[in-house]
Formats: sequence, structure tokens, C-alpha cells
Amino acid sequence: MFSNKALRSTLIISMLTLVGLTFSFQAKAACDFVSTKDNSPFVIKGTDTDTPEVKEFLATCKNPYTAKFAADAEAAKQGKKVLSYNGCTGCHGGNLGGLMAPSLVKNGGVGAFDTRWVYAKNGTDKGMFETIANGTPGISGGTMFIWHNQLEGHTGDGLTTDEILKAISYIRTVYKGTDEKTWLK
Ligand code: HEC
Repeated sequence: MFSNKALRSTLIISMLTLVGLTFSFQAKAACDFVSTKDNSPFVIKGTDTDTPEVKEFLATCKNPYTAKFAADAEAAKQGKKVLSYNGCTGCHGGNLGGLMAPSLVKNGGVGAFDTRWVYAKNGTDKGMFETIANGTPGISGGTMFIWHNQLEGHTGDGLTTDEILKAISYIRTVYKGTDEKTWLK
């Protein structure tokens, strides 16, 4: 016969096991970010105000705005606003065709990075998120700032995950390079 006490501890142990399983499941269902600067891991936390798109991205690394903006030029203007309000165009050019910073359109030109990404991983939305959120090492001759408001050293007030995702998806809509548009897959 089980005593009440033994039954209670068995129950507690099974509950703890369940909690443990839930946590390990949550830890797996997350997008693991690595810095473009030095490949070190970094974490972006979910917040109370996260949009459904941010929740999906943080769990799966898939940026849902990319397909939406590709299909809806009106919606894509939300991303264009992020780029103009935050001065991205001051360095990357009003039409993002390059100025003192590399072109984000990649529509050809004399510069090494007028046709291809400085960092090949920017061909994925996860890679471009890592580049914009957490800065770069300067392969093209200049470095880019840290923009994410959760990361130390960010520029000004910084940007939210949602703003960065929208900026990326807008950049995808102006892309004129020859690489396959893998981000739409
Ligand atoms: C002060 C100038 C400056 C500003 C402002 C700036 N950038 Fe950059 N950006 C750069 C430079 C320089 C690079 C190249 C970095 C390198 O070579 O490491 C770069 C690189 C990038 C890249 C990767 C380009 C590639 O070809 O791989 C993306 C994407 C990008 N920036 C997006 C943004 C966004 C979005 C903003 C605004 C939130 C922004 N940038 C604001 C200077 C700037």
C-alpha cells in the first residue's frame, strides 16, 4: 500500500518532470541568433507587445512580413517608413541604392558590394536580422551600428524586433540582384 506521503511525492515528481519537459520544448522552439561580428550567440526576448509576426519569427526564424510585403506594396510602406525614420537611408541612399554604405538593392555598379551581399547570410531573413540587430565587423570598409533596443550599445532608442522585421521585408521588395530570392520560399 502506498502511504499518502509517498503518493504525494510521486505526484510532485511527475509534475516537475512535466514542467521540465515543457521548458526544454520551449527552449527548442526558438530561433538561435549568432552575431554577424563574431558568430557569438545572442538572445532576443519576447515582450508583452510582440505582434504575431514577431512571435512567429522568434519561434521559427521565418519572417512573415516578407511574403506579405512581396504581395502588397501598400503594406510594404510600413517597412519603408522604418528605413526613412531611422536614418538608414542617410547611409544606404534614399532609394537604398548605396551611398556611404553598401547598396541594399544590389542592382549592379562598380563597387564590390553593388551586386552581392557583404555577408552572404543576409540572403536569409534570419541572417539579415542578425546583421541589423547586432552590428557588423566592417568587411566593406565601414561597420554598421547595433540597432536592436534589447542589445547593449544600440543606436539612440533602438529598434524593436517588429521594426527590424519590417525593414528587412521592405529591403526584399527592392532587391534587383541576380541571386535566387530564397527568402520567399
Ligand atoms: C552610419 C551609416 C549607416 C546607417 C545609419 C545604417 N547603416 Fe546599414 N550598413 C552601414 C555599413 C557601413 C554597412 C556595411 C557593414 C560592413 O561592411 O560590415 C551596412 C550594412 C548593412 C546591411 C548589410 C548589407 C550587405 O550588403 O550585406 C544591411 C541589411 C543594413 N546595413 C541595413 C540597415 C538598416 C535597416 C539601417 C537602419 C535601421 C541601417 N542599415 C543604417 C552603414 C549604415
